[in-house]
Amino acid sequence: MLMVTGANGNLGRQVITNLMALVGPSGFVAGTRDPSSAFARQLTASGVDVRRVDFDDPDTLAAAFHGVEAALLISTYAPNSVRPRQNLNAIEAARRAGVRRLAYTSFAGAGPTATADHSVEVHWPTEQALMASGMEYTILRHALYADIMVGDLEDTLTTGVLRRAGGSAPCAFIARDDLGLSAATVLANPGHANRIYTETMEKTLTCSQIAAEMSDVFERNIRYDAVSADEWPAYMTQHWGLPLELAKSSLGTMRAIESGELDITSRDYEAITGRKPKTMRQFLATVAARRRGS
Ligand SMILES: NC(=O)c1ccc[n+]([C@@H]2O[C@H](COP(=O)([O-])OP(=O)(O)OC[C@H]3O[C@@H](n4cnc5c(N)ncnc54)[C@H](OP(=O)(O)O)[C@@H]3O)[C@@H](O)[C@H]2O)c1
Repeated sequence: MLMVTGANGNLGRQVITNLMALVGPSGFVAGTRDPSSAFARQLTASGVDVRRVDFDDPDTLAAAFHGVEAALLISTYAPNSVRPRQNLNAIEAARRAGVRRLAYTSFAGAGPTATADHSVEVHWPTEQALMASGMEYTILRHALYADIMVGDLEDTLTTGVLRRAGGSAPCAFIARDDLGLSAATVLANPGHANRIYTETMEKTLTCSQIAAEMSDVFERNIRYDAVSADEWPAYMTQHWGLPLELAKSSLGTMRAIESGELDITSRDYEAITGRKPKTMRQFLATVAARRRGS
């Protein structure tokens, strides 16, 4: 039996869509803090075993991992001060329950001296704990979600300006739905034990290059206007309405982009799935098609 945590989240749903196709509803457990959500009830009705999983409540975890052979632990959006404990709770519960292999969603470039604070404070220690756990591990170091570049698409299209931190540094991106396929593939197939994968598109891109791709795909002029990494949290609060504390969590990532540290490419995605990841243009084209259909 396989398992994915964070079933209600964006990535969790993408992984589930792919697990449905790869192993069917009886082949996996969907873990979520809220088994009564509309999506969770829909899964239950389709024959999926939905179980309560809350990394903050270790008592839920022993039952959740019971009978599971391979699980995907999707990292949460909690503050950096909270996430290591959440992940350690999940790793320990999985080990005790006899889970053979645990996969974890980490971040590109995770390491003890990375610029992004969540890489240093959350992902690197979690990777270390997982590797020391005695279970087989698969670490999925994700590039920046391409989806982040279209989070305020209507505003970008209306103003003709893509405002982002990053400056002139190229950055690794990947579409979140591609990551749903690779995570499900890693879970459902042998051959991924004790591997660390870095998942990126084939090319890194600067924000100016993305603005040019957007101009072509959405057929209007879009230019890039740089916001500095240090100004980015306040910008998100002012323009996107995010609480400042939450917006601040992106500061480390933006500094990492600006520093050029995320100028990384890897062919790991194709090695896992046998398919090339979507290019930024292909990703934007899917967004444009969805937008036209709406
Ligand atoms: N690479 C990148 O660019 C990038 C960007 C953003 C985020 N991320 C990371 O990738 C993760 C998934 O991204 P996403 O877009 O799918 O985020 P999302 O939609 O906000 O999902 C967050 C997930 O965390 C789960 N969760 C929250 N608190 C939990 C807890 N106490 N115990 C167990 N699960 C908990 C939620 O599941 P339930 O509600 O079902 O419990 C949900 O699936 C994020 O949480 C973040 O760590 C990466």
